[in-house]
Amino acid sequence: MRVTMRYGAIALAITLVVVLAIWPFATAFVNQWAQRDVEMRSQMLFNAARDQVLSLQGPEDGPRLTVLMERLAEDEGVLAVGLCESGTLRLASSDMPEGFACEQIAVGAGEVFTRADYAGIRAMVAAYPLSAPAEDVRFVILHDYADVEERRSQARIFLLLAAIGVAFGGAALASLVAFWIMRSWTISVRRAIEDAREGRAEDIKHTPTEIGTEIRAALSELDFARRSIDTVHTEWNPETLRIALANELPGSEVIVVSNREPYIHNRDENGEMIVQRPASGLVSALEPVTRACGGTWIAHGSGTGDREAVDGNDRVMVPPSSPAYTLRRIWLTDEEQEGYYYGFANEGLWPLCHIAFVRPVFREPDWRMYQKVNERFAEAVVAEAKRPDPIVLIQDYHLALAPRMIRDRLPDATIITFWHIPWPNSETFGICPYKEEIIDGLLGSSILGFHTQFHCNNFIETVDRVIESRIDRESDSITLKGYEAFVRPYPISIEWPPAAMEGQKPVPEARKAVRKRLGLPEDVQLAVGIERFDYTKGILDRMHGVDALLTAHPELIGHFCFMQAAAPTRSKLANYKSLQEEAEALAREISERHGGPFDVIQLVARHHDPEEVFELFRAAELCIVSSLHDGMNLVAKEFVAARDDEQGVLILSAFAGASRELGEALIVNPYDAHAMGEAFYWALTMEASEQRERMRVMREQVEARNVYRWAGQMLLDAARLRKKQRIMRLIEKERGRAQG
Ligand code: G6P
Repeated sequence: MRVTMRYGAIALAITLVVVLAIWPFATAFVNQWAQRDVEMRSQMLFNAARDQVLSLQGPEDGPRLTVLMERLAEDEGVLAVGLCESGTLRLASSDMPEGFACEQIAVGAGEVFTRADYAGIRAMVAAYPLSAPAEDVRFVILHDYADVEERRSQARIFLLLAAIGVAFGGAALASLVAFWIMRSWTISVRRAIEDAREGRAEDIKHTPTEIGTEIRAALSELDFARRSIDTVHTEWNPETLRIALANELPGSEVIVVSNREPYIHNRDENGEMIVQRPASGLVSALEPVTRACGGTWIAHGSGTGDREAVDGNDRVMVPPSSPAYTLRRIWLTDEEQEGYYYGFANEGLWPLCHIAFVRPVFREPDWRMYQKVNERFAEAVVAEAKRPDPIVLIQDYHLALAPRMIRDRLPDATIITFWHIPWPNSETFGICPYKEEIIDGLLGSSILGFHTQFHCNNFIETVDRVIESRIDRESDSITLKGYEAFVRPYPISIEWPPAAMEGQKPVPEARKAVRKRLGLPEDVQLAVGIERFDYTKGILDRMHGVDALLTAHPELIGHFCFMQAAAPTRSKLANYKSLQEEAEALAREISERHGGPFDVIQLVARHHDPEEVFELFRAAELCIVSSLHDGMNLVAKEFVAARDDEQGVLILSAFAGASRELGEALIVNPYDAHAMGEAFYWALTMEASEQRERMRVMREQVEARNVYRWAGQMLLDAARLRKKQRIMRLIEKERGRAQG
C-alpha cells in the first residue's frame, strides 16, 4: 500500500512538472485558435450571405435586406450585422450597439478584424468589402467577445485536461514499469528469505559473491543487533536451546565430532561393564548440550568394553540411563593413536598452544598419522550425515584438518569448529612445521570459536603471517579459497544446574563425610584442587603455595589440609609420567617437612566421578585452580556451581580464561609461590559475609552464562550465517537471471 502511494505521488509530481512546462505554449496556442475560430465562422457567415446581400442592393430591397440581417444576427456568437457605405451605417440588425460607428472600422482591401468596446459590450468586428474600395460598401459582422472568451477558456480547460491526461498517463506508465521491476526484485528477495527460513537446501557454490557492500553491511548490522539482543535477554537452559534450534534451524541435523567420547564403556578387573564419564572439560560442556539437541556424536572409542556396547554400525545410544543421542565410535589402531593422539596432538599441538614451557615435539610420521586420522573422522561425518547440509560441531586441536576435509566433501555443511585450548601468538605458532596446513584445515570452518577475544586475535594475527588470505578485521572473518570463515569468541561453560548436584548431601554432611574419608579431624580447614594430571594445571606450583602458607603460618599445621584429586591422563607420555612422579614426591616432601598429625598435602591420583567431585567441592573451604595457561577451565565454574550455600573461596589463576569472567575469585599468579601462600591465608580467614558476596556474584555469572548459552550463541550464529548465505545466493541467482 505504502509503495503504491509512493508511486502515485511520483506520477503526480511528474504530471505537475509537465503541465507547468507546457502551459505558456498551450495558452498562446489557445488564443490563436480562438481568434482563428471567430475569423472562420465570420468568413463562413459572410460567404453564405454575400450573394443574397449583393442581390438586395436595390432601393426597395431595404426591408428584405433588414430581415436577412436579423436572421444572420441570430447565428451563434454573432452580436449584430450591418452595412456600411462610405463610412456610414446604412442598415443594421436590431442588436447593433448604439456606439457603433463605421468610421472606426479600419479600411483595407480584404476582410478586416477589429476589436471594439461599445459601452461595456465587447465585440470583434469583421468588415467585408462588397464592392471596389472606391465605393466603399462593407458588410459588417460583430461577434460577441464574451462568447469568444468563453470558447477560449473552454478550449483552455480541454487542453489542460488533455495535458494532464497525457502526462499522467505517461508518468503512470513509467511508474508502473518501475514498480513492476521493483516488485519482482522484492518478491525474489522475499522468496529467498523465506527459503532461508524454511531451511530449504539450495545448491551452495562457494564462490565470492559480488553483492554490493551496502547489502553486506546491512546484513552484518542486523547480525550485530540480534547478537546483542540474544546476549541480553535470553535465559538459556536445555529448553530454550531446543527451541532456538527448532526455530532457527528447523529440521537440521547436528553432528558433534571430538576425539574424546562422552561415555566410555570399560570392563573392570572383575569383568564387570562400567560406564565412565571422562575427565575432560570438552565432554563436561558438550554432553549436556548434545543431550538437549539430540543428533550424533562421533568420537574415538577408547574403552575396553566399547566394541561390545555398539551395534553393527558402531553406534550406541547414550546416556545409558536415558538415551538422547547416538554415539558413533571410531576405532583407532595403537599405531594411529600413537602418532595422531599422543604424538602430534599431545606432544606437538598441546604444548605449542599452552605457555607451560614444555617443548613441543613435531615428528613427520606423527603428522602423517594425524592427517590420516583426521580423514577417518571426516569420512565418518560424511557417512553419518543424512542431509547435504548438516551442522557439524568439530571439537578441539585433535581435529584441526577435519573442517577442510569435510568442507571438500559436504560443501553445504555449516561447520563450527571450537578450539578448546588457547591459541598462541603468531611467533609461537610459527615454529610448527605444518602451520600452513593446520590453518588451511581450520579455515574450512564456517565459524571458528575460541574462548576469548584475545585468542581470536592471536589466531587472526597468525593467519595474517602464515598464509595468503583476505582478512576482514571489521567482521573478524577470513576468506580463503573463496570461502569465508568467521572467527568468534564463545566463552564455554557448564550446565546449570549441574546434573552432579542432584542427590548431593547438605554441605555440613558433605564436610563430615569427606573429612572422615580422608582421615581428617572434623574442624580441619580443607583446600581442594581437582583436575587431570597435566603439567598445564600448575599442580606443583600450588603445592609450593601450600608450602609458602605453612612456612608463613605454622600455626595452621594440624588445622589445614590440601587435597589434590588428579586423574591420570596421557600417562604414556614422558612429561605426564614425570609430572605425576614429581608431584607425588613433592607432596610427600612438603608434608614431611611441616609435620603434624596428618599429611598436609593429600594427593589422590585416580579418576573421580562428577558426583564425587561435587561432594569434594562442597566439603572444602577453598578450591584452587592454578593453571599455568588454560583456555577456560571449567573446574573453577563447577566449584562455584557446587556451592549453593554461597560459602567457599575460589583461588584462580590469572592465566585461565575463567579469570575474565570470575573476577570475584582471588586472582593469583601461579608462578609466584609467596603470593599464592598469601591467597591461601586470605581465603582461610575470609569472613563468611565476604565469601557470600563474592560467591553470589560468581554464581549469578555462571548461571547466566551457562553452556546452553555457549552452544545457543554458536548455533544462532550458524543459523544467521545459513540465512545470510542463502539470501546472498538467491540474490546472485536473481541477478544472473535478470542479466539474461
Ligand atoms: C582438554 C582438551 C580436551 C580433552 C581433555 C582431556 O580439556 O581440550 O579436548 O578431551 O583435555 O584430555 P584427553 O586427552 O584425556 O581427552
